[in-house]
Amino acid sequence: MSDVERLKREAAARAVEFVEDGMVLGLGTGSTVRHVLELLAERRKAGALRRVVGIPTSRATEWLARELGLRIATLEQEPRLDLTIDGADEVDPQLNLIKGLGGALLWEKIVASASERLLIVADEAKLVGRLGERAPLPVEVVPFGWNTHLAFLDNLGAEPVLRRTANGSPFVTDGGHYLIDCHFPNGIAEPIRLQRELRQHAGVVESGLFLGLADAVVVAGPSGTRVLHPEGVSG
Ligand code: A5P
Repeated sequence: MSDVERLKREAAARAVEFVEDGMVLGLGTGSTVRHVLELLAERRKAGALRRVVGIPTSRATEWLARELGLRIATLEQEPRLDLTIDGADEVDPQLNLIKGLGGALLWEKIVASASERLLIVADEAKLVGRLGERAPLPVEVVPFGWNTHLAFLDNLGAEPVLRRTANGSPFVTDGGHYLIDCHFPNGIAEPIRLQRELRQHAGVVESGLFLGLADAVVVAGPSGTRVLHPEGVSG
């Protein structure tokens, strides 16, 4: 296992400690959450957490959860979740996030919003001083007239690029939408304002800005694992 995968595994292991039997648990998407699912499956095989019901945030997570033998349901069946564990692409000091490099941001945000608590798992490389410093902000749009948004996004200070698959066709999300990845050369100065402007624009479905949604972030680094809360840090 590479160093970064080991850190993801450590963050996942700490996060799984927050899961209690009988919980309705949101299952995020991405390579860090994969470790969470594997560890949940191990616990289940050992006879623990057998009444946990998972709500996947993407088709990929649904397939993986099925393969691992986890119990799953749909959000329609279980609309109130106790906890969601998900990854992130960037985490700022207030625990605001950029998500969506894996393409699942819309379902992830719906599931996170329906959850009592959102716990993020990440390796230390995801911590940034300002959102947009490293990762692009994915903006999910309906396919109809997608390129009409490019000038609008450009005016917001972004360098927008339509996400494509390896064969050059547009990447299509599980919800049937396109993603426009927005690079901000100096980071995102005003995330709240940006989110408001994006939301008001016809054709924009959602953005990867998760502001004020995370209750805690489990961060693994070479010197150990920490749990960050919006107001501070605890061990
Ligand atoms: C999926 O759409 C994303 O929001 C992921 O949660 C995010 O990209 C983190 O993924 P990794 O754990 O693979 O870095």
